[in-house]
Amino acid sequence: MARTLRGLEEVSAREIEERGLGTVERLRHREVWFSSEDPGPRLLDLRTVDDVFLLAAALEGIGHTKAELDRFPGPARAAPWRDLSALRGRCGGPSSPTRIDVVASYLGKRNFNRYDIEDAVGREASDVLGLPYVSRREGRPPEGGEPFPIRVTLEGPEAALAVRLTGRPMHRRAYKQESVPGTLHPPLAAAMARLAGVSGLAPGARVLDPTCGTGTLLIEARRLAPGAHLLGTDADPDALRGAAANSADAAAEDPAAGKGAPIAYALADAGRLPLADGTVDRVVGNPPWGLQVEPHGSLARRPKRYFGEVQRVLARDGGRAVLLLHDPDAHLPLAASVGLRVRDSFTVSLFGTHPSVVALER
Ligand SMILES: C[S@@+](CC[C@H](N)C(=O)[O-])C[C@H]1O[C@@H](n2cnc3c(N)ncnc32)[C@H](O)[C@@H]1O
Repeated sequence: MARTLRGLEEVSAREIEERGLGTVERLRHREVWFSSEDPGPRLLDLRTVDDVFLLAAALEGIGHTKAELDRFPGPARAAPWRDLSALRGRCGGPSSPTRIDVVASYLGKRNFNRYDIEDAVGREASDVLGLPYVSRREGRPPEGGEPFPIRVTLEGPEAALAVRLTGRPMHRRAYKQESVPGTLHPPLAAAMARLAGVSGLAPGARVLDPTCGTGTLLIEARRLAPGAHLLGTDADPDALRGAAANSADAAAEDPAAGKGAPIAYALADAGRLPLADGTVDRVVGNPPWGLQVEPHGSLARRPKRYFGEVQRVLARDGGRAVLLLHDPDAHLPLAASVGLRVRDSFTVSLFGTHPSVVALER
């Protein structure tokens, strides 16, 4: 089971199938259930998902009364935790956990809370694996040691018990040492790069992020398009220094990401890009519209210039932009006014906000 952002379920399902990592069985809220004949370390390389889990048990017919808590201990005791622990090791995850950690979440009203579910499952898994379980009811779990990270999700009458493949969440990229306010969640950046179709670009094609911050979108795009020329511009020199450092770390940690020319970064105002007309094949970006980051320079008073420049630099033949817009009602009319047409648009849930991912064409 892969967990992903709300709104990215189909994108993640496509990534799993296109990369030959399994057959998708079903989509649930933030989840893609898939079967894999030969699960292995390649699963850890999925980019658009937050995490990958091995399913331990699926429960049906769970209601909302407190009595339903009695439904959890049986399956939690019968689940093949030992086999899954060994399989985790074979997939590249930690093979010697030292303690049980359980996180539960549910949709809909219940007369019990997440801690009740966590304790019901955690105690049984603790018995089976002979590892200590400390409830999160009293606060954060203990630091240190190697957790066996169990996840319980409950959607409608169906519950899933699963164990995360990795010790550390997959969405926390090791390369991301530098950050700016409003920096992108890496799996969302990877999804936007996929939607922009950068993997289909011919060698030498150009990809631009006009407000690149610390470079997340381009770093994720690099893996998909090792032969493309990637350029990030930003008005903040500190952000550009961070982007260069993150890019160097990403290239060092993964040879595939390091293939091709290094990502180029330049100080520029996104409302006055130093690029000729029609010379960019793909634009990706999450521009600053005052949510976490104030627009600077020419965008401060004239946000329309962002779209005007995207339209101007995009290739006449097949140029495409994929942008994250926090207020599409305000910004899509600006895009339309400079001749950019919406090709696709959908909403994602991102830490309590609901921005739109919008694909635009000239
Ligand atoms: C939401 S952040 C982008 C975050 C980036 N995608 C990342 O993952 O780190 C917006 C960026 O726009 C930049 N910015 C603001 N006004 C700008 C302008 N006029 N031209 C270029 N960049 C600008 C900010 O410095 C900031 O880095």
